Amino acid sequence: MADATAAMTMDKGLDHTIIGESRKSWIDGQKGVLEYVGIDIDSLARNSTFEETCFLLLNDRLPTADEFAAFTAELRAHYGLSDSLLTLLRSMPDSASPMHVVRTLVSAIALEDPNCNDTSEGAELEKALRIIAKTPAIIAAFDRQRRGEEIVEADSANSIAVDFLRMLNGEMPGEATARAMDVCLILHADHGINASTFATMVAVGTESDMYSAVTGAIGTLRGPLHGGANERVMRMLEEIPSVDDVEGFIMDRLARKAKVPGFGHRVYKAYDPRATFLRTFSKAIASETGNETLYAMSSAIEAVMEREVGAKGIHPNVDFYSATTYFSMGLAIDLFTPVFAMSRNAGWAAHAMERRADNRLIRPRCQYTGPHGEDWTDPAER
Ligand code: ACO
Repeated sequence: MADATAAMTMDKGLDHTIIGESRKSWIDGQKGVLEYVGIDIDSLARNSTFEETCFLLLNDRLPTADEFAAFTAELRAHYGLSDSLLTLLRSMPDSASPMHVVRTLVSAIALEDPNCNDTSEGAELEKALRIIAKTPAIIAAFDRQRRGEEIVEADSANSIAVDFLRMLNGEMPGEATARAMDVCLILHADHGINASTFATMVAVGTESDMYSAVTGAIGTLRGPLHGGANERVMRMLEEIPSVDDVEGFIMDRLARKAKVPGFGHRVYKAYDPRATFLRTFSKAIASETGNETLYAMSSAIEAVMEREVGAKGIHPNVDFYSATTYFSMGLAIDLFTPVFAMSRNAGWAAHAMERRADNRLIRPRCQYTGPHGEDWTDPAER
């Protein structure tokens, strides 16, 4: 039987397929470089804010002072959750995974957006701002609810990083912690066409809307091979009794061919530049908060991995040191991936809008390996 796919190239992980053009982020996996719209991530982490990074990703340039003031005001106008979103949130069981809650609530923002079916650039940008502005409140409110604490309302006087920590903990964060959170949000905001960003592009490719695209992306980020790895890193650290046990634990995993969470990357074969930054952060915050052992354990894991598999290009990725950074900041382990989503909303929205402006339905093929010409048989005869 003629098979149209026979002449096509199989590319299961799409590692060798370019699916379009993008101006958003550039990765040099061999040198360990990441840029957002041409600006090195290191420079953004040192000088920018999450809000400014959002503007940069959504508009392909840095804002003027006036533009930034207007953008921030528009973003802050969308802070907080309506009564209907709060009612939905209150109906979530305390045992729910926060990622399922975030996915459900972000999807539900569409229900109260009068422009939810309008996919014009202006309407899609407003949806992006709504999602970026409301996700911190969703995460904080769910965490407080399950802890039996009163939900803290959003305050548009604060930046996203500050207000998220305030809503979560019920008090204003210290300056150093707030800045650490802001930098973590900058570092996670975009990363080329990773799995979850690709999910947004598949949705937009069908001319579906921003809420549908981001909802799919949140579900995709959750997987342990993607954003879910940061939670797994922390669970692994909790499983290892002491620094002295690291060598045996890691060697055992490698011998069983089990992956060590927080290591390896499809694109980076050099050190992930986000991990370089987060390692320094993790060390400083761990020593400030009495979590030195955690940092020592992470360093020991990195040393064994470097010795055993470093030559294969397997180094710490963004999830490895972000786990200990968030833990030292006092975040519950299952909030690590939701915080990743809170930041990546910016990249998802930016890529979704870029794709919509130059769209093509994404419709790959697979090589059929099943039978042909089989007869239907009566259930009694099977
Ligand atoms: N621990 C041990 N060995 C590893 C690891 C790891 N974390 N990652 C890759 N390897 C090994 C593989 O076993 C394989 O070895 P082999 O050639 O001897 O068979 C080789 O490196 C290549 O690995 P692949 O899985 O083919 O590489 P791929 O590009 O598909 O994997 C991935 C990338 C999925 C991220 C992988 O490194 C992994 O599973 N890491 C752990 C999970 C993780 O940290 N994910 C977060 C990634 S960053 C992000 O998404 C935000």
